[in-house]
Amino acid sequence: MQRIVILVSGRGSNAQAIVQRCAAERWPAQVVAVVGNRPGAAAFEVAAQHGIATALVDHRLHASREGFDAELARVIDGFAPDLVLLAGFMRILGDGFVQRHAGRLLNIHPSLLPAFTGLHTHRRAIEAGCKLAGATVHFVTPTLDHGPIIAQAAVPVLAGDTPEALSDRVLAAEHRLYPLAVGWFVQGQLRLDGGTVHHTGGAAQLLLPA
Ligand code: GRF
Repeated sequence: MQRIVILVSGRGSNAQAIVQRCAAERWPAQVVAVVGNRPGAAAFEVAAQHGIATALVDHRLHASREGFDAELARVIDGFAPDLVLLAGFMRILGDGFVQRHAGRLLNIHPSLLPAFTGLHTHRRAIEAGCKLAGATVHFVTPTLDHGPIIAQAAVPVLAGDTPEALSDRVLAAEHRLYPLAVGWFVQGQLRLDGGTVHHTGGAAQLLLPA
């Protein structure tokens, strides 16, 4: 059984989608912990509902980035994960942490990378006049919102969209995309070839929700 730890900061809807799909599809894996940096994050409730361990590493209690990273690493290591997933985790991780988990650290970002790294992706996509928006699951490298792309989902940007409306449409796609990518990982179906990720069975690494 591969051990998955999910890092969160807020709502936890992607964590929930992964936990549910892991059970429904009987992955050879188990979400063993949800670790967050914000007290009271809704994601902790999600974890508790599924009987999953939680841990809080409050960034405000650490004077330095290094101190926070070290404590986060210590807590995560305690769960001995094979795979660490960032799911709405709003802290930038230090290079050392990322390098130590290289190849087994994944993130979901709410844009079609490499466009719109960082925050406010939906507003920026609308302002840029994009006709397509979406989400990307990728391996994490030390550069923020970069790293080999595992899968992407594209949704239309509709006339009159607000950032909230677009966010809802993208989030629904995220809830399909992230479990899909994690399922591939835990079933050993991903091959990293330089900076490119291939699905060994030739599955389309692109989701176009109806
Ligand atoms: C998602 O849009 C994800 O792409 C971004 O943060 C949001 C997290 O939502 N990184 P949730 O906490 O999974 O509901």
